[in-house]
Amino acid sequence: MSAGAFIEVVSEAQLHQRVQQLGAEITADYEGEEPVFVGVLKGSMVFLADLVRQVDLTAEVDFLALTRFGKEGRVNIAMDTEVSLAGRHVVVVEDIVDTGLTLTTLRRLLEARGVASVRTVALLDKATRRIVDVPIEYRGFEVGDEFLLGYGLDWSGTYRNLRSLWAVMDVAVLTGDPLAFAVTAYGSSARAADSGQ
Ligand code: IMP
Repeated sequence: MSAGAFIEVVSEAQLHQRVQQLGAEITADYEGEEPVFVGVLKGSMVFLADLVRQVDLTAEVDFLALTRFGKEGRVNIAMDTEVSLAGRHVVVVEDIVDTGLTLTTLRRLLEARGVASVRTVALLDKATRRIVDVPIEYRGFEVGDEFLLGYGLDWSGTYRNLRSLWAVMDVAVLTGDPLAFAVTAYGSSARAADSGQ
């Protein structure tokens, strides 16, 4: 692995502090309401779990999963919420907004269901990569265009359980070996998986 190919960009403490601030903002804005937090699986799960514990309101939590297909990034709902969203104040919880295609379609789908309102809280915003302009009412951090891992974000399903957020400076390293950063990320206990044993 080349030195500096994998670097921590947002620490656990910084994540905690920002999530607290977002929770306080949402608490103030939704005073007297009972919002439904809808996490977009799987990337948002860590953020959502931390965020909702910083919201001092009666609230529900639900999830949906999306599949993206085609070059235009068309989106289908692969798993829907259990809660009916009609008439509800919906807070979409996203890990990261990149091109904005996923979120744009999702907001349209939710609006078509007759929600009372829909707002988005996104932990990360890759604003420079945006293709479609989409509102993000609550934003954790604006980030560059490096590929990010950890705190829910994955590479081929792994690294979601890192407690902080890491940037991959050379994606080719992961393409060659998806577990290339396992020891850096998890310490020596990851060595067996890292060496393929
Ligand atoms: P968009 O439709 O291009 O905005 O894509 C957003 C989705 O792409 C996110 O919900 C993530 O699943 C994925 N994504 C975008 N950038 C990253 C990244 O840096 N790391 C991990 N997943 C990412």
